[in-house]
Order: sequence, then C-alpha cells, then structure tokens
Amino acid sequence: MTNEWLPLPGTPVEELDTPAIVIDLDVAEENIRRMQAFANENGISVRPHTKTNKSPYWAWKQLNAGAIGICCAKVAEAEEMAAAGVPEILIPNQVVTPRKISRLMSVAATTKTIVAVDSEANVANLSRAAVGAGVELGILIEVNVGMDRCGVEAEDAPALAKAIVSAPGLRFDGLMGYEGHTVAARDFEERKTEALRAMGKLLGAADSVRKAGIPVNIVSAAGSGTYNITGKLDGITEIQPGSYIFMDGDYLEVFNDFDAAMTLMATVISRTGNRAILDCGLKSISIDRGLPYVVGLEGAEVSKPSEEHLKLILSGEATKLKVGDKVHLRAMHGDTTINMHDQYFCVRNGKLETVARIAGRGKFR
Ligand SMILES: Cc1ncc(COP(=O)(O)O)c(C=O)c1O
Repeated sequence: MTNEWLPLPGTPVEELDTPAIVIDLDVAEENIRRMQAFANENGISVRPHTKTNKSPYWAWKQLNAGAIGICCAKVAEAEEMAAAGVPEILIPNQVVTPRKISRLMSVAATTKTIVAVDSEANVANLSRAAVGAGVELGILIEVNVGMDRCGVEAEDAPALAKAIVSAPGLRFDGLMGYEGHTVAARDFEERKTEALRAMGKLLGAADSVRKAGIPVNIVSAAGSGTYNITGKLDGITEIQPGSYIFMDGDYLEVFNDFDAAMTLMATVISRTGNRAILDCGLKSISIDRGLPYVVGLEGAEVSKPSEEHLKLILSGEATKLKVGDKVHLRAMHGDTTINMHDQYFCVRNGKLETVARIAGRGKFR
C-alpha cells in the first residue's frame, strides 16, 4: 500500500509535484540512439553502465536500441535488473563476501552474469559457489589501467587468467579496465592522451593472456567521456558508458556530444526581498560535484542548500519569481541525485508521458 499520488499521463510538467526528476524523453532517447550509432559505425558493442539510470525502464530502452547487455555496480542493482528480465549483466566490480556471492549465484541462475575479479582468493570462492549452485559464471579480469582503484597490474593478468580457466563453474570471458581518471578531463587532447595510455595497459594485458594460450573474447572499457577514444581502438570489444544518457552539469563541461535530458524541478515556497526559497535540498539534489544551477531563467544564483531548502538570490528577470512557481535545476552529478529519488517523471513536449520507477535507488549492497 502506498499513499503516494502519482500524476496521470498528459499532466503538464508544471503541474507535477516537486521536488521531481524530470526527464526530457526526446533528448534521452536521442542520446541512447547516438551512442549506439557510434558503436555500430565503429564495430563495437555497447554495454551501458546503469549505475547512472538505476532503472529497468532505461536499461530496456538501451537494450532495445542495440546494447548487448548492461553493467550494474552492485549485486542489489543486478537483482533489480534481473527481476525485470534484462538478459545479460556485467558487474564490473568485485563481489567478495559469502552473502553477496550467494546472491550473485541466484542472479546467475536466471540471467547471463559476468563479474570482475582481481584476486585468486576471490576466484576460488566464486568457483566454489558456482559449482554449489550449479551455474556457470562469466569472469573478466579487472586490470588497473591507472585509476588505482580495483584491478591487477597488467603483468599479473596471465597468472590470474590461468587460475580462472582451471576453476570449475567459471567461464573466462576476458578483461576489463576502467579509465575513470581520464573520462572527465576537460580538454579532449589531454583526455585522449591519458585514455590511450590507460588502454595501452589493458590491451597489453589482453595480448599477454592470449600469448599464454588463453582465448580472450571480451575487452571492456570506457566511460562517457572516452567513448569515442577507447571505442575506436582495435582490440576493445565493448564500451560501458553510463552518464551520457542524461548528461549532468559536470559532464556538460567535458563535451557536448550528448545533450542534457534531466532537471530537478522544484517549487518556490517563500519569496522575500531578493530571495526565493525552493522546496528541494540535500535530500533531493546532490552537491558532491558542486552546486546545481538554474536552467532557463536568468539571474537566479544558487546558495548552498540545507536538507529541505535551497535559497536563490535573485536579480533581473528572476525577481519575477513568485510563490508556487516552478524552477528547474541542473545537478552537477546526476548519479548521486538520481539515487535519492523513487521516480523519473518522463516528459515529452511539456507533458508527462510516464512515471518510471528508479528500482535501483539505494541498492548499494
Ligand atoms: C567500471 C565503470 N564503467 C563505466 C562507468 C561509466 O562512466 P560514465 O558515467 O563516465 O559514463 C563507470 C562510472 O563510474 C564505472 O565505474
């Protein structure tokens, strides 16, 4: 039972209750189409990272456009996607505790599942669990390509590949490396230089695994900012972009290959002097990559929000704002803002088309 009232299709956007994540469907669908067109032209696959959209609604739009599967950061996200019938899931992340490994096996029992590893101990535990559950689990070796997060060093990949190949219940699929330290470099040439350096490590590791006599089917990499650098390299078989689907304020400073599809719509609840107070705050819009900004209205300067309030300092056109007016904000970081909401309000030509559930919000276990 829920006491939540949801608006009907056709409701004008300004009548939606706030704070609300509003998605311009035409723009988001065009972003999906553009990424897939790039991949088709360059003979690679797209496996979008759904840590951004966290929703089967969008995953299915990406799959229907031609994606070969999706990525999920966490087992709990994968559980939501598997329940929605998504046919293939890569967790480009390490799953190490017994409880999570057991849940991963349940996902693998219903859905083709691949997971990243960077240690022999993890390989042994996954193998034991896969045999026990009677499933075959795909494995990618994660290579540290310079981000210094997870991943083995490139020279250690062949030894780990041998351990995987001889582990029952596991299928060695290939390698992955995420050049996350390069994806948001503002200058394209700098992004390219750093991404190519990173991908040299991944492709070198893939070659040394092949030289050890082990076939490599998948070499997976890239975020939105490097899709057209990494995605053009011989040897890379697929890209894992996530943010391109909605393009947050931070990514809009990196490039304009994709357009902004998402705003956080809020309502003016108080208006005094040069001040307007909105009904959104830290519980509905993130500030980890900087303060949001107002879209489509000149002269409204955003101050640091508190939990449920956000203050605008007004000048010029913005002084016309009155109580009850709607204001659209662009979050600098989409993923962390989306994670705070239950629904997308998906709009076309200013009218609500559908409300899509953010099934993966808060699914960080
Ligand atoms: C492993 C991995 N792949 C792909 C991505 C997608 O990156 P982006 O949001 O830049 O498209 C991320 C983002 O954190 C990631 O961690």
